[in-house]
Formats: sequence, structure tokens, C-alpha cells
Amino acid sequence: MTNLELCRALALQGKSAERPATAVAAIAACGLLLATGVAGCGGSSSTSSQTTTGATATLRDAAQKHSLLVGAAVDSNHLSETLYASTLAREYSQLEPENEMKFVAVHPDPTTYNFAGPDALVAFAKSNSMQVRGHTLVWHNALPTWITSPATPWTAVTLSQVLQDHIASVVGHYKGQVYAWDVVNEAFNDDGSMRSTIWYDSPGIGFAGQGTKYIEQALLWAHGADPAAKLFVNEYGAETMNAKSDAVYAMAQDFVARSVPLRGIGMQLHIDTNFDTQANLASLAQNIQRLGALGLEVQFTEVDVRLPDDSATSLAAQAQAYQDLMKVCLANKACTGFQTWGFTDKYSWIPSFFTGYGWALPFDDNYGKKPAYTALVNSLQ
Ligand code: XIL
Repeated sequence: MTNLELCRALALQGKSAERPATAVAAIAACGLLLATGVAGCGGSSSTSSQTTTGATATLRDAAQKHSLLVGAAVDSNHLSETLYASTLAREYSQLEPENEMKFVAVHPDPTTYNFAGPDALVAFAKSNSMQVRGHTLVWHNALPTWITSPATPWTAVTLSQVLQDHIASVVGHYKGQVYAWDVVNEAFNDDGSMRSTIWYDSPGIGFAGQGTKYIEQALLWAHGADPAAKLFVNEYGAETMNAKSDAVYAMAQDFVARSVPLRGIGMQLHIDTNFDTQANLASLAQNIQRLGALGLEVQFTEVDVRLPDDSATSLAAQAQAYQDLMKVCLANKACTGFQTWGFTDKYSWIPSFFTGYGWALPFDDNYGKKPAYTALVNSLQ
């Protein structure tokens, strides 16, 4: 079967139960064909330029003019859905696995690495000239039971060995293919102290009570596995000037001074429309400014703007919030990426995690462009 035939078959089938290498390639090619404006998967093998201008410019085209990456968190299981793949390839220049590179997914057993899902995403990205961000290597969530309830209690030496092997294997597998990694995710408490996690607490990986030392160690391991990859520390609630962002900044300042391989700070930005005030936007800009002054990049990594309903008023407020965030990013060249946590409301994590909320992303359940989408494109014109 040619890629085109397989692409058609997958589109008809709706979902692929398994993902052999040929299917991965076909799905990736499928995205490219769809992105280039071919109706469905079939009809033509034309690969004419995606570039459009003016009001019909895509998000990725509009962002390209600013050298800004626009990304979305994604799931390989949806790539066989025609509109999912075509919208993703058409509108975004970057993707990041929403869950499939997390520890429990990629390393479910001590000797098992499961790269099938992320490999499919990397293939899709390659076929569609997209960059890939990796997420995430060191986190207190999404851990397998062999880590959280080991048969033999961990010592600092054994747990350190496990994490080093994990980072070396995952980053090594994607060397040269994943340009940036969220190496450590959500390591700080709101008051700026270190979060208690299996990696930090005693025995941890051997640096309990030593502040950001374990983050430094993880960055060094990741750097060893792919020296060219841009390494990030990713946080929520550290977007504006506050105790948590002060702690992140202090860490960043220290790491830069000592040439620890930190390239940037990820700001998650899971917000609601109340975030969108002049005071918060100015504070966000100030925080980006101080991190940029250290020579670091800042990326908006998990943006979504949750709503309690999809009334016209709510959707307009959401559009304004997206536009204001994009403007803050564009105003400082340190801000190199604007990524949303998903792109269609159909698969957003928000309804399951924030009771009573939803409608958080630029595309609706049917892949229709919401006012938020238009506001983003307009702010990039
Ligand atoms: C979320 C995913 O979106 C959900 O599908 C999953 O069930 C839980 O994790 N901060 C992060 C992300 O860094 O990894 C989280 O993703 C959302 C909050």
C-alpha cells in the first residue's frame, strides 16, 4: 500500500487500532496532504505551498513573520482523524505530546520503553515541517507504580541511577528530533519553596534539602544526552511577578551564572479570563523581561483560557485574553514560543480537571475557528 492509499484507508476507517511503521509514515504523509488543501486524503498528490495571505493567513504563517513558533499539545491517537491532522498541520509549527512522553507512558516498566506514540508524533511533525517539544522528564505526576511503590525501597544511588537512565534513554532516543525539553516540571511551591516530590525528598536522587540542585543534575543529564537540545524548566503560577516566579528567577540567575545548561523557562498559563487585566499583563511582561535579561528564552507552553460557558460574551472575553497574551509575547524577543494545551475543545483536558469549565481552546469541538483563533491571527498581522 502506498502512503496515499494508507492515508485514505485511515481516513475512511477513522481510527487506526495499531500503528506499524508504515502507518506512522502514512499518517504523517496524510497530515501533509491534508494541510496542503487536498480535500480528504485523496484526489491529488499536490504539495503546493500552504502559504496564504491577508485575512485567510493561517496561524503558523502569521507567526512565522515574527519567527514565533505556535504549538499545540497533541495525542497521536487522534492523528488518524482527518480534521484533527489537517488542522494541526495547517495551523501549527510545533507540537508537543500532551501525555505520551510522560514517565508512566514512555517507561511503564523498569526495562520497557514505549516510544510508539511519540514516534508517530515526531514523524507527523517531520512530514509537516513542524518542531517538536518534549514533555516532560522529571515530574511528580504520571509516575508508574514501579517508581512510586518499588519492591525494594529506593536509595539515593538507585533512584538517581533510574532517573539518569530514563533521561538518557528518552532524550537520547529523540536526539536531534526534539528541539526543546521540559526537563523539570512544576518543581516549586507557590511560596517559592521546593515542592516535596519523590525526586527531591530524601532519599530522592541524593540532593534532598539542597534546593534546586536536583534540577541542575537533571539538566546536566539531559544536556549530556543531547547537547543541542534547548532545556527548559516549566511551571504554572509563576507567570507574573510573585513568590514562585521569584524563586524560578533566582534559580535561573544562579544557573546562568554557573553555566548550568538551562535555555529557558516555560510558562504554562492555564488561565481564566480574570487573568486578563492590565496589572497581570504588565507583571507577566516584567517577568519575561527579567528572564530575557539573563539571556534566557521564555515560552508559553500550555496556554488555555477556560470558560464557564460558550456565550458570545464569554467567547469575546476569551478572544481578548488570547490576543493580550500574544501581544505580551510578541513585545519581547525573549518569548520564542506560544503553545496551547491542545487546539480543539473536543480534546481539551479542562472539563475533566476544572469542574464547570470548558471551551478553552482556539478551535471548537468541530474544528471551527473561534473568536480566539481570529484574535490570535489578527494580533500577528
Ligand atoms: C495533563 C493532561 O492534559 C491530561 O490529559 C492528563 O490527564 C493530566 O495531565 N500541567 C502539565 C501537563 O504540565 O502535563 C498537564 O497535562 C496539565 C498541567
